[in-house]
Amino acid sequence: MTITAAIAAELRDVTREYGLGNARVRALDGVSLAFPAGSWTAVMGPSGSGKSTLLHCAAGLDRVTGGRVFLAGREVTGAPDRVLTDLRRRTMGFVFQNFNLIGSLTAEQNVALPLRLARTRVARADVRAVLAAVGLGDRLRHRPRELSGGQQQRVAIARAMVTRPAVLFADEPTGALDSASARTVLALLREMVDRDGQSIAMVTHDPAAAAWADAVVFLSDGRLVDRLVRPSAREVAERLATLEAAPC
Ligand SMILES: Nc1ncnc2c1ncn2[C@@H]1O[C@H](COP(=O)(O)OP(=O)(O)OP(=O)(O)O)[C@@H](O)[C@H]1O
Ligand SMILES: [Mg+2]
Repeated sequence: MTITAAIAAELRDVTREYGLGNARVRALDGVSLAFPAGSWTAVMGPSGSGKSTLLHCAAGLDRVTGGRVFLAGREVTGAPDRVLTDLRRRTMGFVFQNFNLIGSLTAEQNVALPLRLARTRVARADVRAVLAAVGLGDRLRHRPRELSGGQQQRVAIARAMVTRPAVLFADEPTGALDSASARTVLALLREMVDRDGQSIAMVTHDPAAAAWADAVVFLSDGRLVDRLVRPSAREVAERLATLEAAPC
């Protein structure tokens, strides 16, 4: 089957298992999901339902146990690390749940890192502009340990945005932010999609954040169980409540 550029990333019948024997956990269980290009998809579900695993598998950061993964129009299942790394650097940004900043580098150097790794000329003005956009224009020289959790999260977001990736994968990008900072970040993400046609796959626990997306998909116990198009925060919260109340 041909994959059109209309799809930024796609999982087909993906299974991901961890551990061996009795400790074996099926984190994803037959998930088929496409992240449309130029669109924002939020991924929700109870803790442990497989959200981070789904994002890592879709971004080619984690290997699947079964099924197939397509990224930027090409199949990446089983692709060599070198090919995956190159594709990631050229086409995607990733905001990790635990930020993954480099402790020895300043905020400005952390944000410039993906440009350096992609061997792109680092325009200091671009790096500063993206840090200013997330409200950190006055923290350029601070190292992660000198920043609050929410500030570190915003450096991680700036680092993922600076290359203007075709696809941005973001795992709880507003989890450490107060509601005003979260709104600033969510508005920036909305602009990436509406103005620049970039694609976003975002994990969140927050119905108000999910309501900024074009569609919201729900995971439960490693399976995709529902999808809502342009839902309100209230609709998202109600759907999530029924999932979290479901017996394991
Ligand atoms: N590296 C790993 N080794 C073993 N088990 C893992 C590993 N990563 C994830 N798991 C298991 O897979 C399941 C899904 O984990 P995942 O991190 O994807 O959940 P999540 O939905 O992101 O949860 P949270 O909302 O708490 O971040 C969990 O049961 C977890 O224990
Ligand atoms: Mg997670």
